[in-house]
Amino acid sequence: AKEIEVYKNQFWVPTETLNKIIEYFISELDRGNADGTDPTGIPMNAAWVLDYPDGSETGDYLAIDLGGTNLRVVLVHLLGNHKFTTEQSKYHIPTKMRTTQHREELFGFIAECLEDFLKQQHPEGIPTGKLFPLGFTFSYPASQNSITEGVLQRWTKGFDIPNVEGHDVVPLLMEQVEKKGLPIKIDALINDTSGTLVASRYTDELTEMGCIFGTGVNGAYYDRIKNIPKLQGKLEADIAPDSPMLINCEYGSFDNAHKVLPRTKFDIQIDNESPRPGQQAFEKMTSGYYLGELIRLIMLETYEKGLIFKSYTKSCEQIKNLQTPYFLDTSFLSIIEADDTADLSVTSNEFSSKLFIDTTFEERLFARKLSQFIGTRAARLSICGISAVCKKMDHKVAHIAADGSVFLKYPYFPERAAQGLSDVFGWEGIDMKDHPIQIKHAEDGSGVGAAIIAALSHARKEKGL
Ligand code: BG6
Ligand code: GLC
Repeated sequence: AKEIEVYKNQFWVPTETLNKIIEYFISELDRGNADGTDPTGIPMNAAWVLDYPDGSETGDYLAIDLGGTNLRVVLVHLLGNHKFTTEQSKYHIPTKMRTTQHREELFGFIAECLEDFLKQQHPEGIPTGKLFPLGFTFSYPASQNSITEGVLQRWTKGFDIPNVEGHDVVPLLMEQVEKKGLPIKIDALINDTSGTLVASRYTDELTEMGCIFGTGVNGAYYDRIKNIPKLQGKLEADIAPDSPMLINCEYGSFDNAHKVLPRTKFDIQIDNESPRPGQQAFEKMTSGYYLGELIRLIMLETYEKGLIFKSYTKSCEQIKNLQTPYFLDTSFLSIIEADDTADLSVTSNEFSSKLFIDTTFEERLFARKLSQFIGTRAARLSICGISAVCKKMDHKVAHIAADGSVFLKYPYFPERAAQGLSDVFGWEGIDMKDHPIQIKHAEDGSGVGAAIIAALSHARKEKGL
């Protein structure tokens, strides 16, 4: 019982701390817009999307959506009138692909999925008469000087493939596409947060941000050219200072200098043992890639103190599993949090099927509380990015389009995030569905956004802009 209190205190983020974090977050958003090259700050990558979609965009576009866990190939039919339809196939990204030594393997895999999809669409043979326009959602930080390029700044979310950082990923993909003779041209390279924002804004013009709460954590919003000093000299001289520019914040790297986030020793250990220590500080406390690791480390510590799993010796298989980094993923916590049986039998099952450990009721209750602390902290911290952007841009009423496995599958995550926003903005007593700023499940994946952005950029070219 004493242990539980200790962890509870370590993981609870009071509203005053949230407010302090948000204040610093706003100054970091501005610092990133001024420069963005300091590795302890937020990159604030200009996405070169200079228009809001108005829902009238039309056309058929292919999109690839390279997310944290899946690759989707999507054919998007933009119908205008705020409507679209999609046809899509999902492909699991094999775990070993994340750390392959050969970059051609990843880009070859994407090209293979594209080929497979086009063959399904055209069983009579892929037409070669025209090039299919393609929007590429690449969910990693990339610097861009135009919409058709993206130089990977650094891998995140456990990806670690040599010779891609510092390279433009568009030619790397095109090389593999051409090898297969696929009739495709890349019209836009975008981030998943940008795609999420634009896809939702196509159907709902109150949408002011796109956020991912998934394997990684990030957000995108439209700022104004005049607020982004680092773009000076990179734009046409006659562009209006109030013109919009979509910004992919890459705020998973917020507070890499460790100034405000309340890190526990477990967070510090995760960071030190990750392939990129010192990077993605905010993401490492909030995103799905790390939540399973947090509970594993805490349970291991409690076991080592002799307080749980007492009948299991150090050398047994069960404990070896518990000692294996990343042995548990976020679904472990999700399943435990969703368990509504009186004796926590679902949790019992989860322990026996994943860790082969037979648990007592107290041990199950302990795991459940830990999941609640970890999940609640992730949700409360996650809203700091949203609050900072809304405060900075003075959005009093807004819809925040959200996507990603944590938002969609982690029990109570949306409610806890809404509670966090309510604490920060002072909406006590107002029903969640009436909150002025609401986080809403986004429209059908960011591939749709990639298609819309490809359409917007096509329209710009047509107008000679
Ligand atoms: C998907 C989006 O729904 O969510 C992707 O279409 C995004 O673009 C993904 O990357 C994020 O979720 P996760 O959980 O796979 O990281
Ligand atoms: C990581 C990536 C970022 C992406 C986010 C969500 O933070 O760096 O580009 O948007 O994950 O997928």
